Amino acid sequence: MTMRDLVLKNRSYRRFHQDAPVEMETLRGLVDLARLSASGGNHQPLKYFLSCDPETNAAIFPQLGWAAYLKDWPGPAEGERPAAYIVILGDRGIRESFSPDHGIAAQSILLGATEAGLGGCIIATVRKERLRQALSIPEPYEILLVLALGTPKEMVQVEAVGPDGDIRYWRDEQGVHHVPKRSLEEIIL
Ligand SMILES: Cc1cc2nc3c(=O)[nH]c(=O)nc-3n(C[C@H](O)[C@H](O)[C@H](O)COP(=O)(O)O)c2cc1C
Repeated sequence: MTMRDLVLKNRSYRRFHQDAPVEMETLRGLVDLARLSASGGNHQPLKYFLSCDPETNAAIFPQLGWAAYLKDWPGPAEGERPAAYIVILGDRGIRESFSPDHGIAAQSILLGATEAGLGGCIIATVRKERLRQALSIPEPYEILLVLALGTPKEMVQVEAVGPDGDIRYWRDEQGVHHVPKRSLEEIIL
């Protein structure tokens, strides 16, 4: 796969084959890609909580917000939920601010997941205090992002932003998820 193919395939997937397991060793390999990625001042303040068992997954899922533009869709139904999660944490014992390290880490992880035939979604809409309690994450760690992972069960199609300039993603009658992207001409000054 070329880099362009990998980036194109690396879409935000929100429906999964929940019963297709993701092994802990796979999650560790993905975190290793994040470990090797760029970090401001090379402080490397990020830590990771990994989940791939049904009980822990069930504790994480209710704390996540899905696809805000799909108003009539409350998120993936039972059977289509992520098979694994990587929670990205900021270690305040190392630094007080973490951005953009967690974005870079998330992209490395998701590109690795895509290469491995998996898919995922970055989730920033997180009930952080509830998730902290559910997972017993100690105070020094700030919850930054949750990455939902699994074997995708949906088609996602990139398309050009239309003349109305609407950037909201949408889902058609066949269940295909459409993601409008701005043109190169628009984004390069
Ligand atoms: C920082 C960040 C936070 C995001 N948070 C959420 C979220 O809380 N819930 C969700 O369903 N998707 C979330 N997404 C996914 C975006 O909606 C998605 O990237 C966007 O619609 C474009 O689709 P694409 O990733 O396939 O290009 C987030 C993405 C990023 C980069």
